[in-house]
Amino acid sequence: MRIKVTSKLLPEVRRGKPLRVAVNGKWVDAYAGETVAAVLLAEGIQVFRHTARARAPRGVYCGMGLCYECLVTVDEVRAVRACVTPVADGMRIEIDAEPAL
Ligand code: FES
Repeated sequence: MRIKVTSKLLPEVRRGKPLRVAVNGKWVDAYAGETVAAVLLAEGIQVFRHTARARAPRGVYCGMGLCYECLVTVDEVRAVRACVTPVADGMRIEIDAEPAL
């Protein structure tokens, strides 16, 4: 999760190098050291995919690589766990945010 609001009462937020990644073709800001899930959540995206049969929405659940609920496609590699995959500059992330009809 990316901290967006800071306070003088809290330590300064130090981010990694600014990067750009594409989410379904739209370029968005990211920072080195963030995971794909952190970038998607920072963009307000909570549904990463839908289940094949019931088309039930799925996103971050465990957040540590155990449940496989957060699968996305990264640089044309399918079924990548977003919560444990660090972003890289120019990365192309594909999510299934809209339920298929
Ligand atoms: S949220 Fe559980 S594997 Fe990513």
